Amino acid sequence: MIYLKTSEGIKLMKKAGEIAAGALEAAGKAIKPGVSTLYIDKVIYDYIKSKNARPACLGYNDFPASSCISVNNEVIHGIPSRKTVIKDGDIVSVDIVTNYQGFHGDTTKTFAVGNISDEAKKLLDVTKKALELGIEKAIAGNRVGDISNAIQSYVEANGFSIVREYVGHGIGKKMHEEPSVPNFGSPGQGKKLEPGMTIAIEPMVNMGARQVKTLDDGWTVVTKDGKYSAHFEHTVAITDTGPIILTLL
Ligand code: MF3
Ligand code: CO
Ligand code: CO
Repeated sequence: MIYLKTSEGIKLMKKAGEIAAGALEAAGKAIKPGVSTLYIDKVIYDYIKSKNARPACLGYNDFPASSCISVNNEVIHGIPSRKTVIKDGDIVSVDIVTNYQGFHGDTTKTFAVGNISDEAKKLLDVTKKALELGIEKAIAGNRVGDISNAIQSYVEANGFSIVREYVGHGIGKKMHEEPSVPNFGSPGQGKKLEPGMTIAIEPMVNMGARQVKTLDDGWTVVTKDGKYSAHFEHTVAITDTGPIILTLL
């Protein structure tokens, strides 16, 4: 069941999205060599609380922190830890979900720490651009597969691979709603996009092979080949006048 949002619902989602974007900006300012991912998570928690919202990841299926922070070969769902200390040359994906008055905003950015390799720079640029190309297809009358294909074809043309086990999703009163929004697929396939739908688009892009595995902590998803992975995400509303990104400041 796809829940269409009223304009009031979208207003609250915009507010939730702004808070998530602000928390991501605060995280970005705090990320530097020598700080732990647990410290970054605390910055995120404090920011979200100060805006009278709730970090929706905290306690979600027993997830123990306010954000997912995934470093280098970690793809998604990294658990913030005192033991994970950021260093020069790292890439750090920070994924934040807020709940504001019952509505959610979900956004992710992969940050570069100090001097990263040219290949890592390209990985971040390609993943960010893939998200933008996906958002451009989030138009009423298009289908989910139009978004999926725009992302997949751009990423693969650039020599990187798309993670398939995890996908974007509808979002609203629940963090994860229908429809699924895969980052691979065929144009013209899948659910038709309608005004009032709100979706999270979130390409996860690997420098090497697309295969992933989950660590024994039950959460952290890493690349099987140990190569870097990047992740960018926005929450987007489909409207009569085109896509509106809800997770911007
Ligand atoms: N933010 C993730 C997503 O993009 C979901 C994280 S769930 C958690 O869908 F439990 F790991 F926080
Ligand atoms: Co997310
Ligand atoms: Co998401």
